[in-house]
Formats: sequence, C-alpha cells, structure tokens
Amino acid sequence: MTETKEKVNPPFDRDSATWFAPMEGGTGSSPGRASPLMVPIRSLGANHRARIARHLLALESHDRYLRFGFAANDAQIQRYTDSLDFERDDIFGIYNRRLDLIAMAHLAFDTDSKQRDCAEFGVSVLKAARGRGYGGRLFDRAAMHARNAGVSRMFIHALSENTTMLKIARKAGATVERDGSESEAHLLLLPATLDSRWTELVEEQLAQTDYRIKVHVKQFRDALGGVMARRSEAQNAQRNSPK
Ligand SMILES: CC(C)(COP(=O)(O)OP(=O)(O)OC[C@H]1O[C@@H](n2cnc3c(N)ncnc32)[C@H](O)[C@@H]1OP(=O)(O)O)[C@@H](O)C(=O)NCCC(=O)NCCS
Repeated sequence: MTETKEKVNPPFDRDSATWFAPMEGGTGSSPGRASPLMVPIRSLGANHRARIARHLLALESHDRYLRFGFAANDAQIQRYTDSLDFERDDIFGIYNRRLDLIAMAHLAFDTDSKQRDCAEFGVSVLKAARGRGYGGRLFDRAAMHARNAGVSRMFIHALSENTTMLKIARKAGATVERDGSESEAHLLLLPATLDSRWTELVEEQLAQTDYRIKVHVKQFRDALGGVMARRSEAQNAQRNSPK
C-alpha cells in the first residue's frame, strides 16, 4: 500500500523547495541522491533585499570566503546586499515552503554598458539544502537568462579549492583556467532562440505561481496557528477558572 502511494505521491521534503523523484541512480547525480523533478527558480526584485541579506548572513565564514573570495563579515554582507542593483543585474532565488531563501544566484553585468555581452555568475546555497542540485540548476537558469539577454560569455571567479563550483561550471561546458589558488571558468553561450526565450518565460511563470502558492499557504498556516493558540489559551483559562 505504502509503496503504491509513494509512487503516485513522491515524498515531499518540508524544508525543500520542490518535489523529489524516488532515488533510482538518477542522471549524473551522486549515488543515492534524490534528483529534483522541478525546481522553481524565480527572479528577485528589490522587495526581496531583506531576505537576500538573511540568506547571506546565514552562510558560515568558510562559505562566505568561497562565495566572495574573502571571509566577509556581517557589515560587508549588508553593504553588498544594500548595493545590489536590480535594474542592471539579475538575481535568482529558490524559496522553501517557509519562505526562507535557501539558494540564490547573482548574474552581474559589467558597469560599462559596452560590455553587456559579458556577465559574472555568483551563487550560494544554504548548507542544509546542498547536494540537491540547486547550485547546478541556478547556474543553468542564469546561463539561459544571460543567453536570452544577448550575453555571449558568462564567467565565474572561484577559488581553486572550490571543487563543487568548478564541477558545476565544467559540467555545463565551461573552460576552467587555474591560476594558483584562484580559478576562472568561462562559458560561451549560444545566441538566443525562440525556444530558449519561451522556456525561460514558462519557467519564470511557474516559479512565480509556486511562490504565490507558498505565500498563501504560509499565511493560512500562520492564521491557523494563531486560532489554535487562542483556542488553547481559552481552554486553559476555562480549566483554571474557579467552578
Ligand atoms: C557551490 C554551491 C553553490 C553548490 O551548491 P549545491 O546545490 O550543493 O550543488 P549541486 O547539488 O548542484 O551539486 C553540483 C555538483 O557538485 C557535486 N558536489 C556536491 N557537493 C560536493 C562536494 N562537497 N564535493 C565535490 N562535489 C560535490 C554534486 O554531486 C554535483 O555533481 P553531479 O551533478 O555530477 O551530481 C554550494 O556548495 C555553496 O553555496 N557553497 C558556498 C558558496 C560558494 O562556494 N559559491 C560559489 C562561488 S561563486
């Protein structure tokens, strides 16, 4: 019975953003790792700035070092977040059901408008959400967006010790050049097609819908929690009141 039910309804991880397929080897994934069926990745605007800050501040010191190239302190992370330019750059994010931003990517364009054909990619995934393919999916999402925006080359600065990031880049076809403790990966992008534009549009719409549903479910849960708390308070007061 349970087996049949699980086939129809794959197990849902409450802390994750998506549904997972049962583990059966997967496609290029580590053995025993669940592979996401669909990861809702949405673009983020300035109204998500506070959640972006919360996400980055939750990274441990070594992860901040890997992400920024130095162990950024809280003030530096806050300055980075405050300075994000949502008009010039593109930020993508993955939310879980509690509306925590569990993964995010920053696609930064050169400040020189003539260099609009080149973009830099940076990404972070919260420790608890790693190994689920989110980093790789964000890379693919950003590359698709860059391609559709007319970018021909995406690059990633990473520390040479950052084997996970370099693996993501290599897997997508990037060339990696190592220079001592630092490495730079370049990914050449094909020109946009009708198909690539359409795919991005559909994925963005699905992710926005997924986000709206999560907001409604969370509001409902919070309201229900409030009602239950008031009910239990009233019951306790009744129980303790003199007869
Ligand atoms: C790098 C980072 C974004 C990867 O996120 P993630 O969601 O765990 O990555 P994925 O699950 O997509 O894994 C990507 C690949 O690396 C592999 N991988 C995961 N963890 C690994 C590890 N510790 N060592 C080696 N390979 C690893 C995965 O198996 C996967 O390969 P596969 O597709 O062949 O199965 C995440 O570790 C992170 O936030 N690190 C701190 C910040 C950072 O380093 N940013 C990058 C610099 S800009």
